[in-house]
This record gives sequence, structure tokens and C-alpha cells, in this order.
Amino acid sequence: MVFLKPILIPVAALVYCSGFTSAYVAAKYPPDSRQLIFSNGDPLPYENDATTWHTTSAQPVKNLEDWIDLEQDLAFKYLLDNIAPNGINTEGSSDGTVIASPSKAYPNYFYQWVRDAAITIQGVIDEYGKSGDLALRDIVDSYANLQGNIQGTFNPSGGFATGGLGEPKFMVDGTPFTGSWARPQRDGPALRALTLINFIRAVNQTHPELVTSQWIGKLYDPDLAAKSIIKSDLEYVSHYWNAIGFDLWEEIEDLHFFTALVQHKALVQGRDLALSLDDYGAASWYDSQQAALKGFIETEFWDGRNGHLKAYQHTPYRSGLDCSIMLGSIHGGQSDLYPPWSGKVLASTQMFINQMQMLHPINKQRPPHYPEDERLRGVGLGRYTEDIYDGVGTSEGNPWFLCTSSASEIFYTAIAHFIDEGEFYITHINRLFFNRLHPTGRAKLGRVRSGDPDFRNYLQAMFTYADSFLNVIRYHAKPDGRLSEQFDKYDGFQRGAHDLTWSYGSFLMAADKRQTARKKLFGSQY
Ligand code: NOJ
Ligand code: NOJ
Repeated sequence: MVFLKPILIPVAALVYCSGFTSAYVAAKYPPDSRQLIFSNGDPLPYENDATTWHTTSAQPVKNLEDWIDLEQDLAFKYLLDNIAPNGINTEGSSDGTVIASPSKAYPNYFYQWVRDAAITIQGVIDEYGKSGDLALRDIVDSYANLQGNIQGTFNPSGGFATGGLGEPKFMVDGTPFTGSWARPQRDGPALRALTLINFIRAVNQTHPELVTSQWIGKLYDPDLAAKSIIKSDLEYVSHYWNAIGFDLWEEIEDLHFFTALVQHKALVQGRDLALSLDDYGAASWYDSQQAALKGFIETEFWDGRNGHLKAYQHTPYRSGLDCSIMLGSIHGGQSDLYPPWSGKVLASTQMFINQMQMLHPINKQRPPHYPEDERLRGVGLGRYTEDIYDGVGTSEGNPWFLCTSSASEIFYTAIAHFIDEGEFYITHINRLFFNRLHPTGRAKLGRVRSGDPDFRNYLQAMFTYADSFLNVIRYHAKPDGRLSEQFDKYDGFQRGAHDLTWSYGSFLMAADKRQTARKKLFGSQY
């Protein structure tokens, strides 16, 4: 067994804990300090107005809970069906392959995308952490071995040390896909590093006896010549984060909010891992690069004129409001950089929802069991308004399951955080979001503390709102719980690749966050 120092500490604490030599620790920020500053520097007075709230705000969506319980089991089963060797949809795949979907034509998604696979395996690790099921650990181990092989291929993006790690998609047997494609995509190595760092943490907590030096060495070895998987990815990220590449939707060559955020989180966690394994030179290099990248993210992706984050640095023909802002915050946000509860993320999410509500005709209809309070009714969300990918070819974009569940995940995560903090602030930036929750649409600026009646009113309304996005998924899911990539913007029928692995993964992650928020908000008797 190997003794790992700071990695024994849970993620959140890692960033702020004092276990490291100060040289490597970037300035200590109070969590989310930027959110607490109002434009004139002073918190504005806040008066609660509990009398105007309707009790219906607190009504959960009818029977949703039962469906979520069922769907969690089904979604996890369908997700495992898409992972080799045991998944029934994976014939011909190498062990550890995560297929994007079993669909082999119209569209052909029978490939492994580095991004989809890393995000999916993250969900498997979460399950392993909860259940301690060694079969799940073995799946992740095969995934890791296969990723090591994939990193070593010569592919159209390059070789091992010449850019090949940015290759986005592989054949199911792990060999390169050589057709033309939008490459490179630089989020893949970052997501893979984050997933595998989390894997080390999970095994270390669940089965510490399995943390041998040989096992760790395969994942991270201070010796660069050892070509360990995580270190190779961190080297890639730290050297290429400022080079343009294609976005997660595989369409635009630019620098991207989602990509930059997951890269930043990978560098921060990579720095901490390097420190815990006494790789001080690398730790200091990753730290310098994360600091530079953080500065870049803070200056480049906030559109102050329109009051929202934008998904791309230089793509003037798009509004910039995009589902990838939520995904960036979910997978790459940290307490001092665009976490789900940050005012800028909440405001951008709400503006994006408003756009999507108008865009998709299906959103004018109320699904059964919508919340009694119309303001809190969630809608189907797509990738971005200008989207024309219909799941097979190009015509008109549709709502996507994974984008719709991301809105709930953002809100559940924020609820849990506000309860932990015992307060939140309504600011000029995030007011647009709180207005949506407020019965008269006019949220008052200022600090809302856990003793104020409005604290609970807001958070319960937020919970109902979050639930109602999952309720949209419930309505468009097949009776047996199956989810494809998209659902039709006019009639709601499923479109695009069937059994999209990522649709299941994102639902499961949102359901998990719901559980946490629910316990904090309603206790065990809810
Ligand atoms: C397939 C890509 O995966 C998708 O993201 C894109 O929108 C379509 N091709 C259309 O270019
Ligand atoms: C198209 C999506 O745009 C992209 O993000 C995804 O990686 C692939 N489909 C595979 O699911």
C-alpha cells in the first residue's frame, strides 16, 4: 500500500487546505469572494417579503420522485450496456471501451469519444465510491488501461508527444479513426485526467489496500519517460491550453469556455496530485499554468454588455449562450471559478433557458405533472439557439436530454451550497435568476440569511424549478426509461442516436445532486 498525502483529503478541501508548501498554493480566496461584492462595493439592505409567497412554490412535482428512483436503476443499467467487455452493446470492442451509442447508422455513433467516455466513467466512479462494488472498479481499471493504449497511437492529430492526445474519437477496438473530423478537441485529455485523478481518490478511500505503487505508477509517475496516463494528459493540457481547437460540439475552432474550465480544474487537481507524489517540479509548472489559464478565463468569457458568459472567445455569429456554459461549470467549475452557484453562471443559465423556451415549440406545451406554479416550469434545452444538427443530419436543432438535465444539476448543486453557507446574495448580476423564482418576479437585492423566511422560500422554489427539468425528461423518456440524444422540438419524440451513453450519465449525475440537495433542504422525512 502506498501512503498518499493530500490526496486522502476530499476534493473540496484539497484546493484550500494547508497541506502544501505555500509556494505552490495560489492566493487563498474566500470561497466565491467575487459573488459577495456588489457593484458599489456594499451589500444592499434586504427586506424579506415572506407574505407574498404562495405555498405552491414549495410543492414538489407530483410523483416525480418515484420515477427518478426507477430511472436511476434503468439509466445505470443502460449505461453499463455500453461499456466493454460486459456491456451487451459492445461487440467487437476492446475491454474498457465506452461506446457513445449503439447506433451504427443514421447516425453512426458506434465509436469511442474521449470526452463522452471520460464523463461516463466519472459516473461509474461515483457509483463505485458509494457501493464499493469491485466490479465497477474493474471497469474503470480497464478504461484506464485502454486510454493508456489510445494515448500511444499515431492518429490524425499526431503522435504521443506531438499532439495526438487531442484526437477526439476512436474506433471501438481502440485504433485511430482516420476519416475527416473536427480535430483536435482539447477538452478530452483534461476530462480524462480529472476522471482518473478521481479514480485514485475513490480507490484510496474505498479499498486502500489496492493502492499499490505499481498501480499508481501506471496512472501517475513523476518520470515523464514512464508515459503514465494522467501525467501525459497534464503535460498536454499545460502546453496546449492556449492553442485553439474544436469545441465539445465539434463545430467551431476557437478557445472555449467549457474546454478552458475543465483544463483549469485538471491543472489544479494535477498540481495537488503531483505534490502528494513528491513531483515538485511538475506541481510548480502546473500551478503556474493554472494561474495563467484562470486569468485568461476571467477576462475572456464574460460578456458584460449582455450580462452573460459566452461559450467561445471569438465567434461573433453566435450569441454565446450555450449549454456548454452549464457543462463547463458542472465539470470544471471550482469554488473560486464559475461554480454552479456563482451569480454569473446562474444568470447565464436563466438567460439560456429563456432563449430555449422561445425557440422550441414543444416548450409551450405543459407536460403532465408540471409544477403548479407556472413560473417554475422547466423546459427542454438544446445546445445553443443557432444549432441546426437534428441528430442525423442538418435541418433544425432540437432539445437534448443532457442539456435539460444539466440545468437541474446546476440548481441542485447551488441549493446544497447555499444551505451549507447559510446565506446567499441577490446581486445585480444574478437577480434575473432570482426574479424567476420570486412570486411577483421582483427579487430584492441583498443578503438572504438562513433565518429569513425567504431563504427557504427561494430554495424550495429553486428545488421545484430544478425538478421540473427532470420532469421534462420523464415525459420524453421511453416507457422503459430509454433516452436518446435529442427529442423533437415540435412533437417531443426522441431523435438522434438512441441510448446515448452521455444522456444516461448526465441524468444520473443530476439525480445524485438532487439527493444531496433534498436531504439538506427537507431532511430525511421528505
Ligand atoms: C456530428 C457532430 O458530432 C455534431 O456535434 C455536429 O453538430 C454534427 N456532426 C454536424 O456538423
Ligand atoms: C455529438 C456531440 O456534439 C458531441 O459532444 C459528442 O461527443 C458526440 N456527439 C458523441 O456523443
